[in-house]
Amino acid sequence: MAEPAVRLVGRDEQLDVFDGVLSRLLDGGGYSVLIRGEPGIGKSALLEAGLDRLAAATAGGNAVAIRSGSCSELSQHIPYAVLFEAIDVNMRSPERGPADSTREPARSGGRAELISMADPVAAGAERVLGLVDELCTRLPVVIAVDDLQWMDEPGMRVWQRLSQLTDQLPLALIGTCRLVPQRPEIGRLGRLLQSGPPDRRGVVIDLDRLGSDAAARIAAQEFGRVPGPRLAAKIAEAGGNPLYIRELLAILHRSSAVRILGGFAELREGTTGFHGPAGPKGCSTNVFTYPADVSASVVAGAHSLADALADRIGSLPSTTRLLLESAAILGDEFSVSDLAHITGRPAGALLEPLDQARLGGVIEPVGSRFRFRHDLLRQALYSSLPTPIRAALHQDAALALATKGAPIDQVTAQLLAALQIDSSASGIDTGILAWLARNSDALARRSPQVAATLLEQALAAATGIEIAIAGGALDSTVIESLQAGLSSAAFLLARHDQTERLAREVLAQTKDPELAARTTWHLAYTLMRTGRPDEARACVRKALAVPGTPPHWTARLTVLNAMTIVTSGQVRPSHAVSRHALRTARTAQDPMALAYAYHAEALCHEARRDLDAAMRAQREGLDAAGNDPDLTDIKLLLMSNLASSMHADDHLEEGARVLSEARMLAETIETPRRGALAIQAAELAFELGRWDDALAEIESISDVPDLTHEARRLGLEGLIAAHRDDQATLDTHLTALADDRIPSAMARNGATWLLLLRSLAAERAGNPPEAIEALTDTMNLDSQDFTVRFTWMPRLVRLGLTIGRSEIAHQAAAVAEHEARMHPTPRKRVWASWCHGLLESDLDRLREAADYIRASQRPLYLADCLEDAAATAAATGDLTDARSTLTEAISIYAGLQATFDIRRATARLRPYNVRLGVRGNRSRPQTGWDALTATELKIATLVARGESNSEIAAGLYLSRRTVECHVTHILRKLDADCRGHVVRHMPADLWREEIAHGQAP
Ligand SMILES: Nc1ncnc2c1ncn2[C@@H]1O[C@H](COP(=O)(O)OP(=O)(O)OP(=O)(O)O)[C@@H](O)[C@H]1O
Ligand SMILES: [Mg+2]
Repeated sequence: MAEPAVRLVGRDEQLDVFDGVLSRLLDGGGYSVLIRGEPGIGKSALLEAGLDRLAAATAGGNAVAIRSGSCSELSQHIPYAVLFEAIDVNMRSPERGPADSTREPARSGGRAELISMADPVAAGAERVLGLVDELCTRLPVVIAVDDLQWMDEPGMRVWQRLSQLTDQLPLALIGTCRLVPQRPEIGRLGRLLQSGPPDRRGVVIDLDRLGSDAAARIAAQEFGRVPGPRLAAKIAEAGGNPLYIRELLAILHRSSAVRILGGFAELREGTTGFHGPAGPKGCSTNVFTYPADVSASVVAGAHSLADALADRIGSLPSTTRLLLESAAILGDEFSVSDLAHITGRPAGALLEPLDQARLGGVIEPVGSRFRFRHDLLRQALYSSLPTPIRAALHQDAALALATKGAPIDQVTAQLLAALQIDSSASGIDTGILAWLARNSDALARRSPQVAATLLEQALAAATGIEIAIAGGALDSTVIESLQAGLSSAAFLLARHDQTERLAREVLAQTKDPELAARTTWHLAYTLMRTGRPDEARACVRKALAVPGTPPHWTARLTVLNAMTIVTSGQVRPSHAVSRHALRTARTAQDPMALAYAYHAEALCHEARRDLDAAMRAQREGLDAAGNDPDLTDIKLLLMSNLASSMHADDHLEEGARVLSEARMLAETIETPRRGALAIQAAELAFELGRWDDALAEIESISDVPDLTHEARRLGLEGLIAAHRDDQATLDTHLTALADDRIPSAMARNGATWLLLLRSLAAERAGNPPEAIEALTDTMNLDSQDFTVRFTWMPRLVRLGLTIGRSEIAHQAAAVAEHEARMHPTPRKRVWASWCHGLLESDLDRLREAADYIRASQRPLYLADCLEDAAATAAATGDLTDARSTLTEAISIYAGLQATFDIRRATARLRPYNVRLGVRGNRSRPQTGWDALTATELKIATLVARGESNSEIAAGLYLSRRTVECHVTHILRKLDADCRGHVVRHMPADLWREEIAHGQAP
């Protein structure tokens, strides 16, 4: 039967939503639409008609970029299978699966190294988000995805992130989904859309069944006449489900049960029209539940959509039906050659049955392939196969596809489907095991998660086979490769225990020196990460003794050995060993070994406070790493450390640029370092007095890599709260940072804000001795820790003097002096001088210090130093000077909204009767243009100029996520619902400035 062209009936109101989407997009705004309903209710048909309407209204899609894709049950475990296909059309090519986006980077000389802890799947998310952001600057974008209930997990997360971005990008997301299987994320999205005002974020369309009028119109499309009363009654049995109506009509058509009578199409006398199993008549209200029920409802003999579909399939010859059952294994689309492969029949023998299937309305051609006309037809065929046979056929298909050299994703999808049915994996074929062993690295690189699932099952099966055949059929290297592959995947997923266990197993048996070396790298690195440097060193040394290790691996392991020593903190032995490692790496000419060797070298210089040498080593390490994608992780580490060295050395601009480059690089892969870099950026913003920016950076972080960084983040946020008199936040953060959660060693190794926070909190509570106590550890002259401790010493001098303990004040000044001697930078000398100025009431030294700090753009330190100068001036009787200096200090504090500091400074000067002429406590309004911080204002003008978030991020040395955060704040403060609003409501003076710079859009 030829399918009539789909003309939607009874969905005018729903189609109007698409007009709303268009006008919203053209207005610069975004929107989200979720179309929900039971199978066959017309979700896909509505989506298709809606997209056609959008394309027609926008000159064939020229004014709006329309991207669409559809999820399928079989590919639901393949990361981004749909999103990449939909969004990045260039990625599509016949021999590459859509998920090839996470394919191995081109690497000269063979196999992937899998050495950096970076999850390629999550990196895919950033790529999708980046692509969408980019697309949106050129044109408004519509992304439509059918059957979201089968979206892969990572894809679903991106969909959620995208839906959050619809309020700041001209982006419309349109998705359809069945109600079963339920996806909690879709449920949440639905609730979110339903909760907001309908004109704001988006809308949920719950598709209802069609009324009898609409059903009659579908019948009229089929027979060319409106239905007579008996036919209308028959159609009513379909309960208003359009697919059911169409299938019912097709049955009547096939059995010639309808004739034209007068102006009507009418049932012939005595026809039930239904060839399916007999059963109770009447309107089936439960039209369909879920495909698994297909056979159940047929057996029960209920009149249902399932019966109608079964009738269509039942009308085919049995050879055709059997063939289609195999095709159903391949998914909703299949090629004749794949079908020939899995059925073991020549393609020529399939042509006739396939043609019958086409004529029977079960499949239709698309390009060079066939697809099932409706997924429910495929499901009906699929579920008519007994479960064990289904599992076996998926395995057969996997093997046939693997033998044929099909893309990894296709084979993977079949294997996952087989395992889903039979998780015992007892039946995994040796051919499949061999394929997995060969492809384990590529799998891990593509999706460590999927690789881990498959390889775990494969290993269980392989061990079984080995026992059964006593080592007969299975090559022993297969098990070894499976274990090594799983260990790599576990390493990438930061599953420390699993990595360690498998790596040890591989090392116990392998005879392959290269594999042993690589596995040792994973094991030793994991041991270091989990705080066992001594064990790491032992295992590296053992590997270094293995004969036949390729020279580049020997060099790498030598470097790793050095790193285990360097991170242990003993300066002298470290340096000797890192030098040796560097020499070995140079001889081997291996970029990876060199990059890590320079990193170790830099750490040694840092411990000796030789920042210049550290920066040189960091730069050389970066040169050595070049652009090798496998070395991204070490590059990020080097860049992050280089940026902090530069900041410490007062090269602020340069440091900000390196940090920003690092952050952009971090967005091309997924790495725990991304959160760390954001924290580093927040710390920098804090130092430079941009506290709101620091808070926005912190807000943009979705994952904090570890407890140290968690402590840094909470510490910094708490510190701002303390300065700003936000006692509630301060209390929660102090609780979260309690001693029992954050080991003190951690504070020593980077989470230094924590100590400062505790000190400030004690000071706020009116307890200076405790405020000193919190920082006492940092006054040990022999300690190499606390690289920035010199910045806290003036504070300790002041607190010591306040409570009359001059020995503490002297000790603190001595530490500042010591730091300045160890590493004589201007900055450290100034801080030492500040301490002495305070200690000796030397106003000139304090003024000089303030002048230097003023030029170095660190406002909180400047205000602190001015406050000390004002107090000193007052104490020496120069009240005029004290007043003007205090005024400057307070106006700086006010700019930071540091109300606590204003109170303290004022109280300190009160005994001398120094009062301020003007009170500088200005507070920013909550909404409107005046509510924007300097950074927000800058970003708002760039938004108005039409720049994308990625472009803004690149221009301002920020990450895209941070810019997203700022844009959200801007829109909220301006009560704007899209970017377009920003440009339309920009105040006249800002416009004039933009135009004066020739940059207005
Ligand atoms: N409003 C309508 N008017 C006429 N025909 C329709 C209508 N809605 C759907 N159809 C037809 O009904 C059939 C089923 O529709 P569709 O495939 O869109 O359902 P669906 O909701 O996407 O189902 P599934 O959940 O299985 O994907 C299609 O053949 C479609 O052309
Ligand atoms: Mg559909």
